[in-house]
Amino acid sequence: MQQVGIEKIGFYIPQFYVDLNDIAKETGIDPEKYHKGIGQECFAMPSPDEDVVTMASSAAQRILNDTDKVAIDTVMVATESGIDQSKSSAVYVHALLGLSPNCRALELKQACYSATAGLRLAASYVAMYPDKKVLLIASDFARYERNTPAEATQGAGAVAMLISAQPKVAVIQPHFGLYTESVMDFWRPNDCATPLVDGKLSTRIYLRAAQEAWRHYQAQTGASFADFTAYCYHLPFSKMAIKTHQQLCRDNGQDFCEESIASGMIYNRVIGNTYTAALYLALCSTLDHRDDLENKHIAMMSYGSGSVAEYFAFTLQKDYQQALFSQQHQQMLATRERLSFADYEDFWHCRDEGSSSDVLIAHYSAGDFRFAGIEAGKRIYQSCL
Ligand code: CAA
Repeated sequence: MQQVGIEKIGFYIPQFYVDLNDIAKETGIDPEKYHKGIGQECFAMPSPDEDVVTMASSAAQRILNDTDKVAIDTVMVATESGIDQSKSSAVYVHALLGLSPNCRALELKQACYSATAGLRLAASYVAMYPDKKVLLIASDFARYERNTPAEATQGAGAVAMLISAQPKVAVIQPHFGLYTESVMDFWRPNDCATPLVDGKLSTRIYLRAAQEAWRHYQAQTGASFADFTAYCYHLPFSKMAIKTHQQLCRDNGQDFCEESIASGMIYNRVIGNTYTAALYLALCSTLDHRDDLENKHIAMMSYGSGSVAEYFAFTLQKDYQQALFSQQHQQMLATRERLSFADYEDFWHCRDEGSSSDVLIAHYSAGDFRFAGIEAGKRIYQSCL
């Protein structure tokens, strides 16, 4: 069988972040609830001139060279923070990156799960057409209503992956375990700027979906839960992954070993939830913080509220580290700026305006592309390269 998988993977995060100590101070909540209770330190906050298109384009721009761009004939953007109900963010991204017009472009949606569906579609496509490359980007702004328990689980960012038949980083394994169940744990009707969330229910459904997807995977493959060297989970916040991994270890009669998930949570703790990108940010975090994974299997548990889950695995390639962008990632994190609480409030509320009147937006973003404003209902993007 043709081996396919990730040739390149890298992320982009906004320049600004909010420290949860500042939220705790304003709300009077014990900061230990955030640090220990949900396992988070900070969250990334997009500036007014950033959205899923600019984050997705910046993530892709930073991993692609001109040769890659010529070879890409499909671009998919997975998001649940889309900027248009009709025109896909992938078409905007395609233009900003200067990809060939002989290309297909589309947006994928199923809460935080859709990038995994995109990955499976891309892998099947490349297996059939090994000379083609697919650009798959997961990009989201997890924005919750102010002064709610969910506010502390915000975040933003994009992960770009080049999927090809030269999988220098990781080969995607053909097996998968699936679980779908219609549940109202988290949803966002068309007229709502932020999601409606039954937080407690969402954590129970996440756990059950992970158990069911693993059972389906195991039933089909005969795999043991101990077959994997590292485990990546969808990460709304790190404690969710710890609890789920503990439960799956118990279900499978295995001792819980935090080391097998710890490296995957390092970025999430300081970036927050990135919805569709969160699982792939966990993968970047694992790859950037471990150096012992050559030829090893990594388990991946994808979850999207509503709800859909998929369990699958990657096998890491020899010399995979040479294909990573670890330094670029560390540099981005090291040069971020902490927002004051007042600036956080301004950045949060700047999204409320709608698109009916013209607006020009000041330049804040350190990304390669920015959202410059709205003219006659049309979103205007600019390159900063
Ligand atoms: N010191 C230490 N720990 C503390 C503490 C303190 N002072 N105060 C509270 N805690 C602990 C609590 O005991 C609790 O721990 P356990 O879960 O182990 O019991 C933890 O902190 C959280 O506190 P609460 O139970 O009081 O929870 P909350 O009401 O603050 O809400 C939440 C937490 C439901 C996750 C909320 O942040 C939320 O709704 N988030 C958005 C939804 C979400 O992320 N769901 C996850 C699954 S769905 C999904 O994964 C899809 C997606 O991306 C959204």
